[in-house]
Amino acid sequence: MMHSTRRLMALAVMLMVFGGCMRGCTSPRPPIHPNPNMDLQPKYKAQAESAFFYDGMTMRQPVEHTVARGELERDPAIHEGRATDGTFLADIPMTVDAEVVARGAERYGIYCTPCHGAKGDGRGMLYERAQIESGDLVGDPRIANLPAGELFDVITNGKGLMQGYRYPVPLKDRWAITAYVRTLRQGGAP
Ligand code: HEC
Repeated sequence: MMHSTRRLMALAVMLMVFGGCMRGCTSPRPPIHPNPNMDLQPKYKAQAESAFFYDGMTMRQPVEHTVARGELERDPAIHEGRATDGTFLADIPMTVDAEVVARGAERYGIYCTPCHGAKGDGRGMLYERAQIESGDLVGDPRIANLPAGELFDVITNGKGLMQGYRYPVPLKDRWAITAYVRTLRQGGAP
């Protein structure tokens, strides 16, 4: 009698341990959630809709004319490549060393080669696939001799068919690309 009760109890325990699924099983039933604590907090997630604000957006827009810290673009040399009289700077207004040129080469590879090609001759993938030439940065003497400030301006704001890279490429990287493009005439970075 004692024996069989013990056996039954052991069987029940084993069923509880091995019969239930610990992890990795799916079940149509909602999980048991003994302590909901902070798991179910009412809050907005980024990009979510909101019934609270009139415009229906959870994410609020900055007040008009807000300038984020460090983004006040006030220096005509660094931010526009221009002298105070508005003319383009002949040279890059920051120190250019091998590290800067290497950074420029890397960024050029990402942002410019598809159109201008690795050599800068304006015959990148766009030319290979669609025979559309982009500016020849090396062989066209007008482009090759653009002042540094104007090169920076083209990268920043675009020109003609080319779009600007102000937003995808941060300021220092745009100058680094400018530095690298200038080395392309000598066949690329040393
Ligand atoms: C999507 C293709 C494309 C990309 C990417 C591109 N460009 Fe261009 N770029 C062009 C085209 C097309 C022109 C010719 C624009 C025109 O004259 O209408 C051009 C022109 C230029 C010129 C000559 C401007 C002048 O005065 O005639 C420079 C310099 C230049 N690009 C630099 C760059 C640099 C540096 C990058 C990388 C940050 C870059 N481009 C990325 C397509 C591109």
